[in-house]
Amino acid sequence: MKKDGTQFYAQLESEIEFDQNGHQCRIIITDITIQKRGEESLRQQFHINKTITDNAASCLFMMDKQGYPTFMNPAAEAVTGYTLDQICAMPLHDSIHHHHPDGRPYPKCNCPIDNAEAEMKGYEDIFIRRDGTFFPVICYIAPLEEKGKDVGCVLEFHDVTEQKKVERELLKHKEQLETLVDERTKALEEKVLKLNKSEKALLYMLEDMKYVSKKLKQRSAELEASNEELNTFSYSVSHDLQAPLRGIDGFSKILITEYADVLDEQGKSHLQRIRKATMKMSHLINDLLSFSRISSYKTRYESLDLSQKVGSIAIELKEASEAGHRVDFIIQEGVVAYGDNKLLNIVLDNLLQNAWKFTAKKPRAKIEFGVTHVNGEEVYFIRDNGVGFDMKYAGKLFGTFQRLHSEKEYMGTGIGLATVRRIINRHGGQVWAEGQEEKGAIFYFKLPGIKKK
Ligand SMILES: Nc1ncnc2c1ncn2[C@@H]1O[C@H](COP(=O)(O)OP(=O)(O)O)[C@@H](O)[C@H]1O
Ligand SMILES: [Mg+2]
Repeated sequence: MKKDGTQFYAQLESEIEFDQNGHQCRIIITDITIQKRGEESLRQQFHINKTITDNAASCLFMMDKQGYPTFMNPAAEAVTGYTLDQICAMPLHDSIHHHHPDGRPYPKCNCPIDNAEAEMKGYEDIFIRRDGTFFPVICYIAPLEEKGKDVGCVLEFHDVTEQKKVERELLKHKEQLETLVDERTKALEEKVLKLNKSEKALLYMLEDMKYVSKKLKQRSAELEASNEELNTFSYSVSHDLQAPLRGIDGFSKILITEYADVLDEQGKSHLQRIRKATMKMSHLINDLLSFSRISSYKTRYESLDLSQKVGSIAIELKEASEAGHRVDFIIQEGVVAYGDNKLLNIVLDNLLQNAWKFTAKKPRAKIEFGVTHVNGEEVYFIRDNGVGFDMKYAGKLFGTFQRLHSEKEYMGTGIGLATVRRIINRHGGQVWAEGQEEKGAIFYFKLPGIKKK
């Protein structure tokens, strides 16, 4: 202890000296505190280094100049399977680096670790475990110098087996993905090619359709024109025929009334037949006239009460009827339609006149009018229990001059139903018939915008 009370490390040296007075002892006390502290700090430093290397996850080796291991940490022992005692007797290269994985020997003179003259960072290699298995590593090498002299090196490495496995898996996935993308791209390209082809085909079709529709338009314009011509022609012909007919009828009438005394019975009978024939011809001309007028007629649409119209026509028919023809009319109330008043009158007139005419021989005739459902759609109908017709000819009825019954039995011109069809078509509707011989007939017609009150 010093005079001031502080303690210090001391090195004691004693010397015994002999002089003329006898002997004396000399003690030399040297203060070695600094030296002691240096030793302590070295011990501490060693302890720290050992803790670090013992706990490091990296594998650490120290080798002398000849490549003999002089130190390895626990991580290096765990990874390689060796202890320092087991491998310190030969260069590290000969224990863990002597062969390539493909079986070729790895000469020490080619070993980058043994020949490292400068620091090497992150170089990849493959080492061999004690059990002979290979494992991939990433190495860091630092040469060791002491007083400017090369004394060996420090080797640090990481076992990257897992990392490599993940990399390989990733690569495999990447390759699979690339193949998939390639396949999909190919399929897509094929689809695009097909689409292009079908697009082209569609374009051609469109071109064709355009051409056809142009042709159709032309045709329909031509048809319209010739139709128009035909109508004007038939109208003027019918019109012009009426005048001479009136002349024939008029003069026949004069002959019968004013020359009755000079004509014998046969002459009178002939004249009566001339008048009957003229009347028939007049009907025919009138029917033809109204038929041809329909095409040029300007339709005006309005809401119409068909029940009322049927009622009025029924009264007219009854009033004009010959005695003995009794008909029961069953008319559904409040049946309305949207159409042209005049034209729909002609339709109902024709259909009811037919029903009336073809029930003439029935003792209990019945004519019905109303609305019914066909295929879920509302349609008008006129039904009678007259002579009916053979369904074989159902399609023929609506043609001009088409008659299924003889002129002798049932008078007519064969234009009525053709007129009906023309009118219904003009309304954008449909007309058809069903019948059974001797059981009756039913005529249906459908108009767009059918309404019931
Ligand atoms: N209600 C009906 N019952 C039976 N047959 C009919 C009926 N209506 C029309 N027909 C048939 O359709 C033909 C054509 O009818 P239509 O064109 O009106 O001519 P028309 O009445 O002048 O004979 C008729 O001659 C007849 O054979
Ligand atoms: Mg008729």
